[in-house]
Amino acid sequence: MPFPQIRPRRMRRTEVLRSLVRETHLAPDDLVWPLFAVPGQRVRNAVKSMPGVFQLSVDELVAEAQEGYEAGVRSVILFGIPERKDAQGTEAYAEDGIIPRAIRALKEQVPGMVVMTDVCMCEYTDHGHCGILKAPKAGGPGQDLQVDNDATLPLLAKEALAHAKAGADIVAPSDMMDGRVAAIRTLLDGHGYQDVPILSYAAKFAGAFYGPFRDAAESAPQPGPGIPKDRKGYQMDPANWREALREVELDLEEGADMVMVKPAVPYLDILRLIRDRVDVPTAAYHVSGEYAMIKAAAERGWIDEDRVVLETLLCCRRAGADLVLTYYAKHAAQLLSGKK
Ligand code: PBG
Ligand code: ZN
Repeated sequence: MPFPQIRPRRMRRTEVLRSLVRETHLAPDDLVWPLFAVPGQRVRNAVKSMPGVFQLSVDELVAEAQEGYEAGVRSVILFGIPERKDAQGTEAYAEDGIIPRAIRALKEQVPGMVVMTDVCMCEYTDHGHCGILKAPKAGGPGQDLQVDNDATLPLLAKEALAHAKAGADIVAPSDMMDGRVAAIRTLLDGHGYQDVPILSYAAKFAGAFYGPFRDAAESAPQPGPGIPKDRKGYQMDPANWREALREVELDLEEGADMVMVKPAVPYLDILRLIRDRVDVPTAAYHVSGEYAMIKAAAERGWIDEDRVVLETLLCCRRAGADLVLTYYAKHAAQLLSGKK
């Protein structure tokens, strides 16, 4: 039927008509709030490159989570900055480490909150890589060390187990080692933690969007002789989408319960491809650099922060994200529930 009989604008005329035909919704309980735990008490260190984000001691972290909970956020993901770092990342799997302590306090004081934990080595190693380092086989002078995939797996599994023992509801490996999901699943199951799901950072791209996070988590690769200066040897090449599907397929074979794409907005095509192919819950991580860009433009008065935030998170949902990890979780939840 030709114009003027067909007019898509008819259904856009009023808000109530628009909401009647709205295809995607964003709700506070779709959001996961990343929080950074540091040792000490009453510590709130502002992260320079992420206004509104703080490194928090466990007492402050619990209070912050409580505020999020009151706004409707039902899930947090924890990152830890340990007392000390070493080449083996020993603190990553210490059962009384910063993350187990934060989990116990949260489960006790905000019992309704789903507590996820990031499982990785980079906050705990003195060189800042996501696994332990070894000399390459054909090693000679001037050749870079490499992250030792297979030697890292048992450490990641021990880290996940320490989190599960402390009460983590979900563990989320972000290291991008091959075989880590299977290693974690096997150790968890062997210790009676069959019911702890794994959210795998399946398609995690090595790009420039994690800079502010590395300030917050103090986890940037450190300069030093032979130490790789970036994570391109294990995180994915931003150019690749078929490989992202392959990563997802492998992680599901190994027992991942949910998969993640990271970063979010520049990679929404990947998210859509994955969502169309697999039936497990899919997550998008709106990462630190994406957060910082919105904050910076908003601080200059160049964009309307609240509207840009809600639109961004909604678009992640539309592209296929069932859940969205975002530093804006509390803020967005307040906006969505009319508390701001
Ligand atoms: C740890 C980890 C990183 C992020 C989540 N887990 C950083 C990295 O890979 O360097 C990034 C999150 C963000 O930028 O917000 N491996
Ligand atoms: Zn890491």
